[in-house]
Amino acid sequence: MYETGGDWGIQDSALIVDPSKRASGFEHPYDSEFDFRGMYPEEFTDLKTYLEARLASKPVIGIELGGRASRLFSQFTPGFIERSLGVLLSDNRSASHPQQAQDALRHHEVITADVFSTEGKQTINKWLNGQKADLIFERMEGAISDGPYTEPGFMTAVFTRWYRLLSERGIMLVQSPWLDATTLTDMETRLDTLKEQHIDVVYKRRPLGDKARLYTILEKKAGAPESF
Ligand SMILES: C[S@@+](CC[C@H](N)C(=O)[O-])C[C@H]1O[C@@H](n2cnc3c(N)ncnc32)[C@H](O)[C@@H]1O
Repeated sequence: MYETGGDWGIQDSALIVDPSKRASGFEHPYDSEFDFRGMYPEEFTDLKTYLEARLASKPVIGIELGGRASRLFSQFTPGFIERSLGVLLSDNRSASHPQQAQDALRHHEVITADVFSTEGKQTINKWLNGQKADLIFERMEGAISDGPYTEPGFMTAVFTRWYRLLSERGIMLVQSPWLDATTLTDMETRLDTLKEQHIDVVYKRRPLGDKARLYTILEKKAGAPESF
């Protein structure tokens, strides 16, 4: 049990956990802030401040791939998000769950689809309706621990596909599965090449035994290609 509140748990992580709740042990500690801490310039106190400053020029279209994201996007300053989407395999909330009405008020939609499938891609594109996403999160945690997700080249291919959803100046924050050293190095080498194409990339490893997760923040600068 990561926090109180039933299905508001790890299926719907926070952008930033209230430090007092984190200390009490009732909150899942791996909020987005925890994962990506130290990967943005020190002048920003936390991930929220950093993202809101970087994406200040217009209201943001946000997507979480592999998550309900109701809580994630609700924690940004009101008005920062224009509309948002959470895509996950199943949403166990009832139609009368109080969060549903809050989602509607904030123009947050939750869609069940496989984000790795062609149908999932089409569903997301339909929701985007010709627009691009300014902010993309992916933190699937244990859901992509084994199977094809950990094979060499898989995450790099996924990056390529998700990058195409991003607007100019858009930001993507991605957590990889636990990968072996060779696969990690291949991924890092590929990400390094993007730095020459007006794409800012920062990554860090979080080790566990002989594997590690790679956390990446990718920022598509003006002049960056539409795909790589
Ligand atoms: C451990 S939960 C994490 C949820 C959320 N990202 C968070 O940080 O709270 C894993 C999520 O990944 C979703 N998921 C796993 N495989 C998926 C897939 N192929 N397509 C869409 N969502 C997927 C599950 O439905 C679940 O919501």
